Amino acid sequence: MQSKLILQFIKKKYLKMYIKELPAYEGKEVTLRGWVANRRDSKGLVFINLRDGSGVCQCIAEAGKISENDFEQAGKLSLESAIELTGTVVKDERQIGGYEVHVSKLTVIQLAEEFPIAKKEHGIEFLMDNRHLWLRSQRQWAILRIRNTIIYSIHQFFQKEGFVQMDAPVFTGNACEGTTNLFETDFYGSPAYLSQSGQLYGEAMAMAFGKIYTFGPTFRAEKSKTRRHLSEFWMIEPEMAFYDIHQNMDLIEDFLHYVIRQVLDNCQNELKLIERDTSVLESSLKKFPRLTYDEAVAIIKGEKDVNGQNSIRSLEKELAEVEAKITELEAEIAEREARLAEPGMKKGEINFNQNKIATMKNELKDYEESRRNIPQWIESAKNFQYGNDLGGSDETVITRLFDVPVMVYDWPHEVKAFYLKRNPDNPRFARGVDVLAPEGYGEIVGGGERETNEQMLREKIIEHQLPMQDFEWYLDLRRYGSVPHAGFGLGLERLVTWLCKLKHVRESIPFPRMYGRLLP
Ligand code: 4AD
Ligand code: MG
Repeated sequence: MQSKLILQFIKKKYLKMYIKELPAYEGKEVTLRGWVANRRDSKGLVFINLRDGSGVCQCIAEAGKISENDFEQAGKLSLESAIELTGTVVKDERQIGGYEVHVSKLTVIQLAEEFPIAKKEHGIEFLMDNRHLWLRSQRQWAILRIRNTIIYSIHQFFQKEGFVQMDAPVFTGNACEGTTNLFETDFYGSPAYLSQSGQLYGEAMAMAFGKIYTFGPTFRAEKSKTRRHLSEFWMIEPEMAFYDIHQNMDLIEDFLHYVIRQVLDNCQNELKLIERDTSVLESSLKKFPRLTYDEAVAIIKGEKDVNGQNSIRSLEKELAEVEAKITELEAEIAEREARLAEPGMKKGEINFNQNKIATMKNELKDYEESRRNIPQWIESAKNFQYGNDLGGSDETVITRLFDVPVMVYDWPHEVKAFYLKRNPDNPRFARGVDVLAPEGYGEIVGGGERETNEQMLREKIIEHQLPMQDFEWYLDLRRYGSVPHAGFGLGLERLVTWLCKLKHVRESIPFPRMYGRLLP
């Protein structure tokens, strides 16, 4: 009690009051500081939507209830101006957050210049160029708060499970995931690579601490623009001594269940803001199907159905629906455009129609993208060559059939990394596991059980044309107390993208780095 009073006193003294705390201050006078997210005037009233990072609330300045000067200032506030205001907290269920503030005093901290991001629809390149400002929008705010909850719950899960967080270096001397996408840099005159994965170091640390996880930035030179690839992303990599592939899969499932549960429990507001239909997140709390590579291939090629659904036939059906939707949208856009061209429409109506057309055109773009993609998915699914790695479109094809992540394990060893253990009963297969997220998202986790046999590893290192001397330290782990062990890597941005159902991974990280994008 005492400490609560002191806290309130401190808050008053330093005016550290946030919008999310308003419910505790009903009927009281508070001071808030923030930015103008919106302003609208109506006879003798100025409505300000104030944004302070913790939330948004409507603040009303009424002529006569504040000084003339303050009222005049309120009427001139531009979008994103910084202000401080004092007022009384009033409950109003119709408002965002359920409360509004009746302003008694207002101070302008800075009157903003015309904000480049207006309320109208902008193109993605424009928004990306203005990422430093775009972050302030409600949608971006919500996504990145969900990202924060995910990060926090990842630490909670592993710490509760007795894992130790250990950091792997960012400058590395050897490749972990093949040499094709390494970023080379200069390390005092010698080449060094930015880390592609902390795994090899994770294995060494697991032999010292039993169960560890790394959580760090990861770099891959992916010279193509896809909606799944970043050049810099964050990866969580647990590594566990004495775990086999099956225990690894149990852990992945418990871990993802935990994170999804936390997001559902703590981010309802944010999920609503981004209009995320959470039914697939709820259904993902059940057991994840575990398919061997062979089973996954049969499903992709349409040789095996899932819950009565066939991959190829369901895609063909969807293509027909998409085509119908496109025809419908095109007709409606044409009709509205024709009406706009006629004289006599009121200004409000014109605006309404123009906005409606812009929204429909965006929708149309999505459908047109599906119309381009679906036939390609069908083609590549039909022609999938047994023995190949799954490509992005194969992952899309299989995961659209499930309402829960699926795990694919036991892969042809040729397509997987050098460090994976072979299935002792069938050495054609390596004990890797990929977790594919539903709704077409595809791979979010890659991992597996590690090879413990030094000779096998040496052969694989040669086969992958990797410089043996750089791996001697890693091979030491097989000479001194080698034990069965396993681990995995979760791409944070891939998880955020799926949980928020984003179209592209670029919105899942504050400042994305990808092919063609280094600024801001
Ligand atoms: O499947 P990957 O390549 O696995 C590894 O790096 C292992 N060494 C992990 C381990 O076992 N410790 O990458 C793991 C995950 C992928 O499943 C994906 O989620 C993410 O990292 N990822 C990317 N995310 C965004 N952009 C990229 N370019 C990514 N490449 C991989
Ligand atoms: Mg992978």
